[in-house]
Amino acid sequence: MDDTVRDPSAKQRHIDVCLAQPVEYAKSAGFERFEFVNEALPELSLADLDLSTTLAGRRLRAPLMIAPMTGGTARGHAINLRLAAAAERHGLAFGVGSQRVALESPDRAGFFEIREVAPSVPLFANLGAAQLARGYGAEQARRAVAMIGADALFVHCNALQEAVQGGDRDFRGVAARLTRLCRDLAADGIPVYAREVGFGIGGATARRLADCGVAGIDCAGAGGTSWAKVEAYCATDARRRALGLEFGEWGIPTSEAIVEVRAALPDIPLIATGGLRSGIDLAKALALGADVGGMARPFLLAAHAEEGAVDRLVEDVLARLRICMFATGAGTVAGLRGRLRLRTSAAQG
Ligand SMILES: Cc1cc2nc3c(=O)[nH]c(=O)nc-3n(C[C@H](O)[C@H](O)[C@H](O)COP(=O)(O)O)c2cc1C
Repeated sequence: MDDTVRDPSAKQRHIDVCLAQPVEYAKSAGFERFEFVNEALPELSLADLDLSTTLAGRRLRAPLMIAPMTGGTARGHAINLRLAAAAERHGLAFGVGSQRVALESPDRAGFFEIREVAPSVPLFANLGAAQLARGYGAEQARRAVAMIGADALFVHCNALQEAVQGGDRDFRGVAARLTRLCRDLAADGIPVYAREVGFGIGGATARRLADCGVAGIDCAGAGGTSWAKVEAYCATDARRRALGLEFGEWGIPTSEAIVEVRAALPDIPLIATGGLRSGIDLAKALALGADVGGMARPFLLAAHAEEGAVDRLVEDVLARLRICMFATGAGTVAGLRGRLRLRTSAAQG
C-alpha cells in the first residue's frame, strides 16, 4: 500500500486524494442484491441484543473494525489516535496502515503508537506482501507488532495496486515467505491475517492463503474505495493517471468475495471490508458469512469532520445492525447467518 519510502509524502497524498477525489467504485459491493427475510414475531428485545464477538483473542462489543489506513506521520498519527480512541469507546477492532515507513525510518515509529488510547481492543499491525517478496520476514514483522503492541498482523496483498502505482511488481516467492512468516509468528502467539486492500480475495486464493497458514482473512473487496482510482488521482503524469482510471473498476465485489471465501473455508475467521457504507451493509456482510465487517474511508471522512462525527458514525452503523438483527429474529451476530435471500425487486434497503 505503499510508496512511502520512495516518496515520504505519498501517504499524505493518499489521504488528501481519499478526502477530495471521486475515488469510489461506480459498481457496488453487491449488498443491494440481497434482502433480509422479515421476522414479524422476533421474541427479542431491541435493547437487549448481543452484538459481541471475538477477534484475534480479544472481545469486541460489536462486529466492526476500523480498517487500516494510516500512521507514520504526525497527521496520520493524529487521525489514528482519534479513531483508535473511538474503537476503544465502542469496543471495536482497529488496524494501522502499512508500517513499512517506520521499519525503514525508525524515527517514525512513535507516529504509529496508539495502544495507550486503545488498551483493550484488538489491534492489527500491517505489512505488505510485496515487502515479504523483497525479503521482509519474521524480524520485521515482530518489530511491526511490537511497535503498536498488536494482537495480530495483517499482510496486505495488493498486486493490482502495486502494478498501477508503479511500485513492487515482483511477487514471486510470496506464498513461501508468507508460510514461513505464519509459522514464525505462530510461535510467538501472533496470528497472521491476509487481506486485500479493496480488489477482493476469491475462494481459490483463500484456500491458498489457508495453505500458507494464515489465521484469518479480510477479503476486502470492490465496491467502496477503488485503489486504482486513488493511485490515478495521486499520479502526477497523465499516462499513469489514465492507467489507474482504466483499472478503476477492477475487483471482486465484497459480497461475492465473502460468499466465495466462506464456501471455501467454512471456519476461518473472516473480516469483510470494502464498500460497507451502512449498518445494513454490515448486517448483510455478516449474514453472508463474515465474522466482522470493516470500514475505512467512511472513518477517514468522519475523523476529518467535526468533533463527535466518528462516534455518530459508529452509533448509526450499530443502530442499523441492531434493527436488522431484531427484525430478522437474530439475537446474536452469528444468528444473522443465512437470514437473507436474493432480491427479486430493484428496491433498496
Ligand atoms: C486513506 C487510506 C489508506 C489506506 N492504507 C492502507 C494500508 O496502508 N494498508 C492496508 O492494508 N489497507 C489500506 N487501506 C485500505 C482499506 O483498509 C480498505 O481495505 C479499503 O479502503 C476498502 O474499504 P472502504 O471501501 O471502506 O474504504 C487504506 C484505505 C484508505 C482510505
